Amino acid sequence: MNILVIGGGGREYTLGWKLAQSPKCTKLYAVPGNPGMKKFAVCLEGIDLEDNAALVKAAQQYAVDLVVVGPEVPLTNGVVDAMQAAGIRAFGPSKAAAELEGSKSFSKSMMKKYGIPTAKYEVFTDADAARAYVKEQGAPIVIKADGLAAGKGVTVAQTEDKALAAIHDIMEDQEFGQAGSRVVIEEFMQGEEASLLAFTDGKTIRPMIPSQDHKCVYDGDKGPNTGGMGAYAPAPVMTDALIARAEKEVLQPIVAAMAKEGRPYKGCLYAGLMITDEGPKVVEFNARFGDPETQVVLPLLDSDLVDIMLACVDGTLDEQDIQWSKDTAVCVVMTSGGYPKSYQKGYPITGIEAAEKAGSLVVHAGTAEKDGQIVTNGGRVLGVVAKGTDIRAAVDKAYQGVAKISFQDEFHRRDIAHRALERMQK
Ligand code: AMP
Ligand code: GLY
Repeated sequence: MNILVIGGGGREYTLGWKLAQSPKCTKLYAVPGNPGMKKFAVCLEGIDLEDNAALVKAAQQYAVDLVVVGPEVPLTNGVVDAMQAAGIRAFGPSKAAAELEGSKSFSKSMMKKYGIPTAKYEVFTDADAARAYVKEQGAPIVIKADGLAAGKGVTVAQTEDKALAAIHDIMEDQEFGQAGSRVVIEEFMQGEEASLLAFTDGKTIRPMIPSQDHKCVYDGDKGPNTGGMGAYAPAPVMTDALIARAEKEVLQPIVAAMAKEGRPYKGCLYAGLMITDEGPKVVEFNARFGDPETQVVLPLLDSDLVDIMLACVDGTLDEQDIQWSKDTAVCVVMTSGGYPKSYQKGYPITGIEAAEKAGSLVVHAGTAEKDGQIVTNGGRVLGVVAKGTDIRAAVDKAYQGVAKISFQDEFHRRDIAHRALERMQK
């Protein structure tokens, strides 16, 4: 069958890389894809990812049998509904279901209504009321823009002043545009985070291997939040007992709740969890695969991703037997210096092939092609992924790959997977 991946970042690279390995995949297309994806996909340029009609037209033109949606914006924009209306199978939640990520206030209200463990919160549309609440609650406290802000709309404020500044930036300076017309203010949760992604067909859920992302830009989890500086899987903080608990207390209830609310959720459901003393609590739901979590989870999937995705679309996930590797995978993200603030683009990249020859999977995230040369074209430029029989082996191999690649102003964290390594030492 012909398959179309929507998106062009590291997550979509990895989705395409895995889908292309399926014997069921005849031809793989990507909109817009990226230069690295050309190894296994035909990249279609010039199509607006927010134009559902144009995306449907492309799917029809290339006789696509399955569409796989990577990023949140097309999902919250209803691309899955548009494909379905045109009779094309599409993996991902409908517009109504993707609200679980698209609106933090909706997501929090669902958790409250259905008793899913999460931080206590209030929603504000008025900056003065928000400030008064912060003064009453005190710090630490968490301020979030309600809508989509590319993972950057959250401030974990250790002081009241930082919280007040975040309210000003989001609501009065509109740093995230319309996404900040409402803020969600949350209780600070203490614990270690983990990402638990699951396949679901709206009834059955199948958790994937738990992973851990590194959201802060600097080593030691310092500095501002980014889209993600690296990841590893499995995350040992998620013991089998905790996975079972998260399945029972979080994943199953939210999928059942969405069905009950007339917004059945199909696709990949991403639960960002805080492992607190009281057990796993939801930090956020995302309506899609995580980036860079996908880069470490899919290399550990032994089963055919096409079969699983079709089962999610068709409602037959209960019949799927999903097999995972016993290995560990690590992804180190190489970024443009300055990210998540401003940075330069267009610098030539060298050493990608050498890293691949040494056994890394080099995932393109923010690259472009200029005069036959791969150049930097985003904040997160590449993800270097390696597998090993344990976390130490995987980390060492990933950093060996990173050492072979260079571009001007390159920056990466040197401590990816530090929590798992510390656990191993204990
Ligand atoms: P989000 O975009 O909601 O995942 O938030 C981004 C990051 O902010 C999370 O990955 C956490 O590290 C942190 N965070 C968000 N909400 C809370 C909370 N209530 N307590 C502590 N940390 C939080
Ligand atoms: N890695 C975090 C996210 O995809 O939202």
